[in-house]
Amino acid sequence: MATRGKIYHCINSQQFDRPLIEKLCRLADQIRKIADTKEGMDFLESTLHHKRAMLYFVQPSTRTFLSFYSACQILGIKCAEVRDPKTSSEVKGESEEDTVRIFSSYFDLIIMRHFKANFTVTIAEMLDGTDRPVPVINAGSGKDQHPTQALLDIYTLKRSFKDRGGIDGKRIAFVGDLWRGRTVRSLAQLLTKYQGIKQYFVAPTEFQISADLQAYLNEAGVSYELTDDLKRIIPLVDAIYMTRLQSEWDEVDGTCCQLDLDKYSIGRRQLALLKPDAIIMHPLPRKTELAREIDADPRAIYWKQVRNGMWIRAALIAMIFQQESAILSYT
Ligand code: CP
Repeated sequence: MATRGKIYHCINSQQFDRPLIEKLCRLADQIRKIADTKEGMDFLESTLHHKRAMLYFVQPSTRTFLSFYSACQILGIKCAEVRDPKTSSEVKGESEEDTVRIFSSYFDLIIMRHFKANFTVTIAEMLDGTDRPVPVINAGSGKDQHPTQALLDIYTLKRSFKDRGGIDGKRIAFVGDLWRGRTVRSLAQLLTKYQGIKQYFVAPTEFQISADLQAYLNEAGVSYELTDDLKRIIPLVDAIYMTRLQSEWDEVDGTCCQLDLDKYSIGRRQLALLKPDAIIMHPLPRKTELAREIDADPRAIYWKQVRNGMWIRAALIAMIFQQESAILSYT
């Protein structure tokens, strides 16, 4: 799935190299600028109005689903959706693989969220062996990957640090349920493409990042630290990436994991320790780990993340369908 400057399937964050990330961010900036006028919107909507997309989301989603839906609309792509497999012939015993193969008969792009890790890889490989292969985008798979969330997070970091030398050299802390958080995993991997980054993983041992992610970071030669001391880390960092307790996995895995939310939350008290130009991110949804009292603080940029997701996903889709030159040359 290596990309070498181009992209077809979007499966995991490891497949993106730095030049491709830079291209995507530039394209996202251009799309949001063009979309500012009616003429610009008309142009964008004409770029892919001959394409159709299936949004196959069998795990709940608000942001990812709606931002992909909006991104498709911006580019003129017509969308259909399956969000509940009980409404498909899966209830008659049709396999998920056959279900997705059916989508490829009618649609030119499949965007999918699934509770199984690696399911998108299985589907992409299966479709590549058919006479109607179509690109597949992973919109969140199991506990392992959420590559387009990582792209929007990088886009947000890039925009936030554009007057401070960019992302290189920054200190970034991940906080919360890091064990089951696919957004943490995808972003930690994507950050290895940048120079001089220090990553802090702040969680109690039972919620720490997995051994295979540590092995990946070791292999990439990245500087990182595992700690449970949020108070010590807050003043050191340029960005804090908060995450919620992912208790929905308890039912699937038969676990019952509790996180001491007092120790891994940000409110007014913790905000006072944060550098004046640092930022607070969160993939959302949140539970109580981010107090609403900090929403209005200029360092809280999670609402910007949400909107950035739409632009970077539009850029990704435009690039998959090779619309980059047409969009970048629009004046
Ligand atoms: N960040 C994210 O993936 O949100 P949704 O689950 O609402 O799509």
